[in-house]
Amino acid sequence: MKGKGTKVVAVVPAAGAGRRMGGGIPKQLLEIGGKPVVIRTLETLDRCPAVDGVILVVPGDRVEGVKEAVATWRIQKVFRVVPGGAERQDSVQRGMDVLPDGVEIVVVHDGVRPFVAAEKVEEVVEAARYHGGAVLAVPAKNTIKRGVEGWVEETLRREFLWQVQTPQAFRAEWIKEAYEKAKQEGCYTTDDAALVERLGHRVRIVRGDEENIKITSPLDILLGEALLRRKAG
Ligand code: C5P
Repeated sequence: MKGKGTKVVAVVPAAGAGRRMGGGIPKQLLEIGGKPVVIRTLETLDRCPAVDGVILVVPGDRVEGVKEAVATWRIQKVFRVVPGGAERQDSVQRGMDVLPDGVEIVVVHDGVRPFVAAEKVEEVVEAARYHGGAVLAVPAKNTIKRGVEGWVEETLRREFLWQVQTPQAFRAEWIKEAYEKAKQEGCYTTDDAALVERLGHRVRIVRGDEENIKITSPLDILLGEALLRRKAG
């Protein structure tokens, strides 16, 4: 396990309760093809030369169990496993609280996105080195309207819309400052880049692909199994 001397660290929030999935097991701990989703995500990061080390954030009562799973599945890059918080943002914050000194780039990647391509992680990290901040995203496929209380307020122009995924990567000073400011001001969002944007920084969009699904519902598990079968076949 690494820690010291790691220049690019991924913080992986995997501390959600998984309410949308139904049942008692958090979705990141559910299995696809006989392996927990979060383990698959960590294996992907292990195969990714752009990432030196991983800080994993999990539900408070599962820290020990997850440490054991990380060892059992021979995950290489995880050097800290820490308990998360009430919201995703709190969990990422907990991970950032234990960042080692000297980290240059912080990559935030959802524990429930096991299918990201290693090359895409690398592209996002490179874009963050160059531009300061970058997100993986795909062009919106659907027309998106803004609605309030059942009435359309606005129809947004699809050619300008991107569905944002993770990984998102930032210069360490930017993301630390962004999280600090958000904490002070009590600002909550589901997107890390949004906090960096609030500082007035421009964030680069790196085009990703649709296979980088987020496993949040039983349908996603089915889709995930299908993606695995295609890879195997
Ligand atoms: O719920 P959402 O789809 O935003 O979850 C994205 C990622 O954030 C998941 O990997 C989930 O486990 C994680 N999360 C977390 N702490 C929370 C809520 C979500 O680490 N309190």
